[in-house]
Amino acid sequence: MKPWEYIIRSISRNEIDNVIRINRECLPENYSRFFFEEIFRNFQRYFLVAEFNGKIVGYAMARVETIFHLFKLQKKLHLISIAVLPSFRRMGIASSLLKKLEEEAVSADIFSIFLEVRVSNYGALSLYRKMGFKMVQVLKKYYRDGEDAYLMEKILSRGMGPPGFEPGFLG
Ligand SMILES: CC(C)(COP(=O)(O)OP(=O)(O)OC[C@H]1O[C@@H](n2cnc3c(N)ncnc32)[C@H](O)[C@@H]1OP(=O)(O)O)[C@@H](O)C(=O)NCCC(=O)NCCS
Repeated sequence: MKPWEYIIRSISRNEIDNVIRINRECLPENYSRFFFEEIFRNFQRYFLVAEFNGKIVGYAMARVETIFHLFKLQKKLHLISIAVLPSFRRMGIASSLLKKLEEEAVSADIFSIFLEVRVSNYGALSLYRKMGFKMVQVLKKYYRDGEDAYLMEKILSRGMGPPGFEPGFLG
């Protein structure tokens, strides 16, 4: 393996602790072990890790949600959490995690991927914009500390909306 190479793959049960550690180190939004295990049980396909020289250095965790949108039920992938350990950032790991999630979602015929991000999280915002996400709404006081979030979405399947439907706009 070259020094900058990493592997993106689905998580194994015994790696949930590693992900919990990364989550606590990198983000103020922390979840219970039960929550991580629940995502693992139900959405393992969308619970990904980045492995670098045998070490878990990042993860992305998403779940499928069925939403009544534009007069019909649609399956959307909700990115719940993504983080990369500080010393492994700016190597394309988060982009690769998102790309893999997107591939999985496309093959499962999922309409879009959406997420919430703090308005002050410029690094993450820049990553999401680069990956094709569009800002669709400001969620006022979304976080416990009162900070607003941007709701961002990336439409995956074309031609599913009614005439005049603008990809990137969430009604
Ligand atoms: C946001 C985060 C996941 C990005 O991970 P990463 O592996 O470094 O991202 P990538 O290397 O794939 O970055 C791809 C592009 O996104 C943009 N980007 C990523 N981090 C950035 C930063 N800190 N500042 C500005 N742009 C950034 C850049 O355009 C970058 O491309 P470049 O390196 O060629 O300039 C990581 O910084 C992190 O874990 N942050 C703490 C947790 C967090 O905020 N998660 C998101 C919650 S919504």
